[in-house]
Amino acid sequence: MRSIEQRRKFRMNKLFHGAAYYPELWPEADIDRDIIEMNRLGINVVRMGEFAWSRMEPDEGRISLDFFVRVMDRLHAAGIGVVFCTPTPTPPIWLVHGHPERCFVDAEGNVMSHGARQHPSYENPFVRAACARIVEACAQALGRHPALVAWQIDNELKCHVAEDFNPSAIAHWHAWLETRYGTIEELNDAWGTEIWSQRYQRFDQVPAPVRTPFLHNASLSTAYRMFSRESIADFLDAQCMLLRRQSSVPITHNFSLGFFLNFERTCVNLDFASFDNYPSAQNWSAMMLDNDLLRAAKPGRAHWLMETSVSHNGWLGNHEPAHPAGFLVAEAVSAYALGAEAVCYWLWRQQRTGCELPHSAIMSAWFKPTIGYAQVEAVETARKRLEPFLVASKPAAAEVAVTWSDLGRAMLQTEPLGGNKTHEVSFLGMISVWHQLLLDLGVHRDVRFEGGSLDGLKLLITPAMPYASPEFLKRVEAMVRAGGIWICAPTTGSRTVEHAVPTDAGLGAIDALAGIETEYSYPVSDTDAVGEAFGLSTPLAGWCSAVRPAHADTRIIGELKTGQASSVAFLTERKLGRGAIVVLGAMPQGEAGQTLLKKLISHYTLQAGVKERYDVTSGTLVCPRVGANGARSWIVVNMDGHGGEARVNGEVIKLESYDWRVISE
Ligand code: GAL
Repeated sequence: MRSIEQRRKFRMNKLFHGAAYYPELWPEADIDRDIIEMNRLGINVVRMGEFAWSRMEPDEGRISLDFFVRVMDRLHAAGIGVVFCTPTPTPPIWLVHGHPERCFVDAEGNVMSHGARQHPSYENPFVRAACARIVEACAQALGRHPALVAWQIDNELKCHVAEDFNPSAIAHWHAWLETRYGTIEELNDAWGTEIWSQRYQRFDQVPAPVRTPFLHNASLSTAYRMFSRESIADFLDAQCMLLRRQSSVPITHNFSLGFFLNFERTCVNLDFASFDNYPSAQNWSAMMLDNDLLRAAKPGRAHWLMETSVSHNGWLGNHEPAHPAGFLVAEAVSAYALGAEAVCYWLWRQQRTGCELPHSAIMSAWFKPTIGYAQVEAVETARKRLEPFLVASKPAAAEVAVTWSDLGRAMLQTEPLGGNKTHEVSFLGMISVWHQLLLDLGVHRDVRFEGGSLDGLKLLITPAMPYASPEFLKRVEAMVRAGGIWICAPTTGSRTVEHAVPTDAGLGAIDALAGIETEYSYPVSDTDAVGEAFGLSTPLAGWCSAVRPAHADTRIIGELKTGQASSVAFLTERKLGRGAIVVLGAMPQGEAGQTLLKKLISHYTLQAGVKERYDVTSGTLVCPRVGANGARSWIVVNMDGHGGEARVNGEVIKLESYDWRVISE
């Protein structure tokens, strides 16, 4: 059996082009026809098994994987690899029928029932044991099958459901609190439970954040989210352990950034990261964010685009518009170019039953090519052209990154700092704003987990991280002293690790590090406050830290003008070592705000000496690559369907709608 370290060293030697495959839903006689069509189209990997538990174990304890062995034998004979999924999102009826105590309970106390997916409570010991049994059976029956390319744990954990309030979950919550705080006094201190007479005498008295007449203590709400995310990651880890006992192929899980997970924690025990995204043609940049985060999530290990739609997605009562011709190719080429080893669709053949009847597929239910089929053929043509080139090179290292903090995300879910009825605030929204600015400016970028390495970075932007740990700040300081620039963006530093307000300084330890004093901390949306910087004046929005320089090396870059206070700043810079710390106290708004933010990034990419930046027209992407011998190359893709231009290697590249080009040095 290979160790995790050995598994991580696998090199990418081909590009996968795949589809989700549900042979259990069709007559077995259809499989050969499927395989012939897959071969014709260049589908070289299929993913299966994730919803097939009732086929594997129709009655409790009567398990057979023979059907899947037969399918995999046939796929293997045809040169098609398999990602096999553990089937835990959809247990058979016998697991929960007559056993509501085994089901997921939401914050309102609603108990989920059988019929869709994700209804079992993974906190329930009986459910856990049944999951372990079926996972072990899969590992044993299929773990050494020659078709097996990878395992996928479950499917989109916490996609439909958030925190679980099953009684077993609440018992685990109490145990988790005890491990975290040791004594109930510690917890009372940390959460300031003197407030509203919340003080607890024992851990088992601490409520889970179910319905109260008003709101729970922020510390408790955020802690429950973190507990729940830790717990689901433990569930995933337990499955990884069972698979690894019998099988040495790499393990992944497919997530999307909206799910109720702690992504950094979820990735720890995976061999490679995968994502699902179904962007509309307008929202293409959401997928770039996934590529930039997942590429950095497991350094040195290529990620997968595990699910996207061939054309439109849909379920009973809704569907998205069908993709315009060309969009799928741009999606696939950009994913491969940004480091993905695989581009896979959901799904091979349109569902004839269930609740996703309107969803696009490669083949229709009556087995004819669908409206998206020709696009899949075009992706395959692109994949073949790209493959020799991409296996011989890798994405260039990013010099600029945006920080992704899962604790920050949980805190903003508890308290969307600066958000109200007219100004919506979300963690993903804030990350996306910065990511989009970097895309627009042609800056090659990563999105890096809070605990990820800062190696190679010249500029780091950290928005939406209300708590910045001493460990994180230590690494940031080292990066800055060595010449890097840190932009501490709005809300970062405004809360403690316990989701309380810092009492030493407005931004906690960041005040001293950034050489500032935070004077006021308040919401500025819809007030008279404007920010003036880089010769521009813009309205400000969201939560604001109005600051003053408090160190000889700190200067004001942007003043905050308001009738309520004078001589305060919303943008400062402190020189530190060979680099600088920049505090942006509030978000510039509107068109002028966008221009200001672009000037800010341009100014600091220049000051930091960032080289991986390309002049592009909006909607066109440059993906820089480096070959084994150091040779440079670039893949340029038009993503928005309007055509565009990019200056690469001294040349102006002009692209038609959704066109792409490889440029070599
Ligand atoms: C994903 C899910 C698939 C399918 C797809 C439809 O979220 O993993 O099973 O439901 O959505 O778009």
